[in-house]
Amino acid sequence: MERRTEDFPAEDPTAEDLAAADRPAAAPRRAIGRRGVIAGLAAAPVLVAASASAAAATGSGPAGGQGAPGRPATLVIGHRGASGYRPEHTLASYELAARLGADFVEPDLVVTKDGHLVCRHEPEIGGTTNVADHPEFAARKVTKTLDGVALTGWFTEDFTLAELKTLRAKERIPDVRQHNTLYNGRFEIPTLMEVLDLRKRLSAELGRQIGVYPETKHPTYFQKAGLALEKRLLDTLVRYGLNDKNAPVFVQSFETKNLGQLRKLGLKTRAVQLLSAAGAPFDLVDAGDPRTYADLITPAGLKTIATYANGIGPDKNQIIPRDAGGNLATPTTLVADAHKAGLVLHPYTFRAENSFLPADYRVGTVASDYGRAIDEQVTFLKTGIDGLFTDNTDVGILARAAFLGG
Ligand code: G3P
Ligand code: CA
Repeated sequence: MERRTEDFPAEDPTAEDLAAADRPAAAPRRAIGRRGVIAGLAAAPVLVAASASAAAATGSGPAGGQGAPGRPATLVIGHRGASGYRPEHTLASYELAARLGADFVEPDLVVTKDGHLVCRHEPEIGGTTNVADHPEFAARKVTKTLDGVALTGWFTEDFTLAELKTLRAKERIPDVRQHNTLYNGRFEIPTLMEVLDLRKRLSAELGRQIGVYPETKHPTYFQKAGLALEKRLLDTLVRYGLNDKNAPVFVQSFETKNLGQLRKLGLKTRAVQLLSAAGAPFDLVDAGDPRTYADLITPAGLKTIATYANGIGPDKNQIIPRDAGGNLATPTTLVADAHKAGLVLHPYTFRAENSFLPADYRVGTVASDYGRAIDEQVTFLKTGIDGLFTDNTDVGILARAAFLGG
């Protein structure tokens, strides 16, 4: 499984809270109590990386705000929907993201036993559903190896869609997002088709195209299980009339080969290669290919990505790293390097809670309180990125407006 540092430096005392947002609940983790208070928070002044003047020109994308000259519109992507406000990957989460102004909503995709694409961050569903409360499924709790990591829980590929539809979603990180527990037990696991139906309905109602940004989760794992994601995704996009280079669609993956496979199968939409601040794509690991994510972001690596993708989705720390104190440091050259290769950049994941923010953007000492999330996003927008994934769509909309307003 790709090991991503995404948001928290290892020495950050809230690293466990943070990592929980991106790890199956049943995955191995160090035993550590919940920390409601962040110790020793710094309040250093924000250093802005670049001039906002590049934002003054008008972009031409089909959705979203205005971008830098010659570049597509600056996109606000509803990460797992509006997962800062609703349990992730539910129709309620996607709908709220769209209504808050998201240009795209982001379904992560896994496969059921009978071959349906459903929206979950990982095949294991113990962390985000009430499956543990269903005695009829108790015997399906198993330990599997997911991308090289042993994981105990319940897995989508062991359930039919009809069975999954008897479950209800719950908040992944209730300690940080207590408000979202209000909705525990209320919403089903959606299928990709239901998301595309929702997209169509909301696009008509809101008078603008709501895009979809599907991610193929663990493609090698599902290929080996005889439940390959790729053709299922392509067939669904074709069925909905969305397999077009101008469609409001980006297909994304942390693995590399499946994007190429999708191209060979006939995928015409835009595609994005996801990147991690550490580790290597699992398909390369599995094939004995020594290349890592660090190799993928060299100029030569970016040139290779540009042969099959239109953009990259880096960890935001690959754009502005954090220093030893957890504060934002000097931006890397990744934005310039990617643009030189003809690739757009949509980094992940921007979240409003102190737990997830750089030390110099936190407010107060409570991990679940909000910090200066709008300012953080503006700082990143000033590096020249072309959009961002955020759990808090409204924060993204405000940040984009602040950035464009100079
Ligand atoms: O796909 C962009 C972002 O969602 C990647 O992180 O782990 O939330 O899928 P993850
Ligand atoms: Ca994702």
